[in-house]
Amino acid sequence: MNAIADTLSRKLGSLKPRHAVILGSGLGSMVEAIEGPVHVPYGDLPGFPQSGVSGHAGEFVAGMIGGTPVLMMSGRIHYYEKGNAAAMRVPLEVLKALGIEVLLLTNAAGSVREDMPPGSVMQITDHINFSGENPLIGEESDARFTGMTSAYDPDLAADMQAAAERTGTPLHRGVYMWFSGPSFETPAEIRMARILGADAVGMSTVPEVILARFLGLRVAAASVVTNFGAGMTGGEITHAETKEMAPVGGKRLATILTAMLSAKGH
Ligand code: HPA
Repeated sequence: MNAIADTLSRKLGSLKPRHAVILGSGLGSMVEAIEGPVHVPYGDLPGFPQSGVSGHAGEFVAGMIGGTPVLMMSGRIHYYEKGNAAAMRVPLEVLKALGIEVLLLTNAAGSVREDMPPGSVMQITDHINFSGENPLIGEESDARFTGMTSAYDPDLAADMQAAAERTGTPLHRGVYMWFSGPSFETPAEIRMARILGADAVGMSTVPEVILARFLGLRVAAASVVTNFGAGMTGGEITHAETKEMAPVGGKRLATILTAMLSAKGH
């Protein structure tokens, strides 16, 4: 039994979502797509971890999107906050216990591709865990040997592509590389990321994908590009820029995810 999930379930009443969305930095406006939203601040759930990062509100918002019940997490904890790669384990276990089957992950990311400028949206087709960390270290069951070959569910990926096409929204596809943060990358690291096969870089999502697969959730993910990687343009990269630019691609991503969720329950 998961006491936090029980409390959350009571607060959601008759709403029984099977789809959850985790919103990245500056992407909180996607909750506006929800009809009849019910807000549950993480602080109202005893034992639920809270993020201290500005731009991350820290609440569940649940309701309907095009006839599909959806649970959104506005705000997530990052590895770089405490050095704990499993920081999102409790939240994901709560989602699982609540009956969530499909997890849509979003983040703000830096682009390492000249043809994918700020404002772009990139479907994550695969990832590179460059942090050297893993949220399953210390897990003792054999389930820790989680397969990652189809971590990004092929059917959900096709649904996301179809939703992008239906709505006429440009959607890149690429590989996301996880850096621990919280400092941004150096220009040399961005050049390395490109050579190693990355299309975007960021500080989240990979631990959640690993944990979600461990728990048996189906996963789709997308990045909103807020900036070119370090050294690709003249200026310094800042968190303020991330928060300012995220809503640009965020609107496109919201269009895609809303269409994806409206289409059907998976
Ligand atoms: N690097 C890492 N994380 C990010 C970036 C970046 O350039 N932009 C937004 N999140």
